[in-house]
Amino acid sequence: MIFKKATLKDFEGLCRLRKELANDPEDKITTEYAPYQEENDRAWIQKCLRSRQRIIVLIAKDAGGIYAHAIICLEKVPRKMQAYVTYRKKARLVHLYVSRKKRRQGIGEKLTKYTLKYLKKYGVQFVDLECYMHNDKAAALYHKIGFRDVYVLKRFPL
Ligand SMILES: CC(C)(COP(=O)(O)OP(=O)(O)OC[C@H]1O[C@@H](n2cnc3c(N)ncnc32)[C@H](O)[C@@H]1OP(=O)(O)O)[C@@H](O)C(=O)NCCC(=O)NCCS
Repeated sequence: MIFKKATLKDFEGLCRLRKELANDPEDKITTEYAPYQEENDRAWIQKCLRSRQRIIVLIAKDAGGIYAHAIICLEKVPRKMQAYVTYRKKARLVHLYVSRKKRRQGIGEKLTKYTLKYLKKYGVQFVDLECYMHNDKAAALYHKIGFRDVYVLKRFPL
């Protein structure tokens, strides 16, 4: 298994993984904001792969295909905010997914660690992410690696 930055050559493999994700009964991408639609998702993935500065897609793959992805959004602190924060470059891990058939083999942990190393080299000073409270597996993974809980997001649908 290798860990690397995805390129346009990985597009179809990534789309296959995203389709699996969308149909995964336990872990759908569908949130109350953006239900999965294949064409929209393909367009979004293509945009991510073409992005030069803002979005990075890292993957785990072998000869059999792509088994995991991490999608990261880079955020620069705007000049007028710089007086209020100690960092200049941060990143958000917006999506981590490991194919069901490859889970519990250490791939999620390795890909997350690879992501952190990759971003550090890139000059990123900290990484954050959001995780659903009921997602015990992901929470355990992030805690194991050293992420700490910062706040609970509350939502009230009107
Ligand atoms: C969460 C996810 C990425 C874990 O990937 P994985 O490759 O199976 O995880 P790993 O094998 O690397 O496990 C690393 C650690 O994660 C935690 N973990 C993973 N699966 C777990 C499970 N089923 N139950 C409890 N802890 C689990 C454990 O702490 C584990 O360490 P351990 O093996 O020493 O106990 C994977 O289950 C997934 O893709 N889930 C659906 C998408 C998702 O929830 N993404 C996160 C969004 S915030």
